[in-house]
Amino acid sequence: MITRLAKFVKFTHNNHMKYIAKNEKETISFAKTMAKDFVGGEVIGLIGDLGAGKTTFAKGLALGLGVKVNVNSPTFVLMKVYPVKKGKIKNLVHIDAYRIDCWEDLEVIGADEYFYNPESVVVIEWADRIKLPVKKKKAKLINLTSQGEEKRVIKY
Ligand SMILES: Nc1ncnc2c1ncn2[C@@H]1O[C@H](COP(=O)(O)OP(=O)(O)OP(=O)(O)O)[C@@H](O)[C@H]1O
Ligand SMILES: [Mg+2]
Repeated sequence: MITRLAKFVKFTHNNHMKYIAKNEKETISFAKTMAKDFVGGEVIGLIGDLGAGKTTFAKGLALGLGVKVNVNSPTFVLMKVYPVKKGKIKNLVHIDAYRIDCWEDLEVIGADEYFYNPESVVVIEWADRIKLPVKKKKAKLINLTSQGEEKRVIKY
């Protein structure tokens, strides 16, 4: 599928996509471009160490969806819901799974109803901490790896 991201990415040997962001701005711009192709129901899992750029990536997605307010880390509140007006998409749900142990914890906070909901886009930091329900066409896992101060390898 040709997407707006085609100009950013290279294929790796195992057919994954790879983009190297040289700085924070490039990570944001990459995520922003990705979100422009969203139609609703997407679930984006972000995987990467402390400071790898997960929240920064989520900010970029928010920009691409036209979210006007500043998106920051939901570490303590676990989940934030931002209003969106882009086609069928009505909200961006930003979850931080750092303090969450399992899918049931997400059900307790009512996050489960947003997953694969055509009116929502879900972005979840520390996605590797929980077993998420996977719908192949709509779920994307994105790995962020720091290489020095500002370089980040983005793979998915
Ligand atoms: N290329 C880059 N992409 C993203 N962030 C970058 C980049 N270069 C430098 N940074 C800096 O790295 C930090 C990334 O922080 P961010 O909060 O996005 O990471 P995180 O993965 O969400 O961390 P946490 O695990 O604490 O949630 C920011 O201070 C940002 O300015
Ligand atoms: Mg974060």
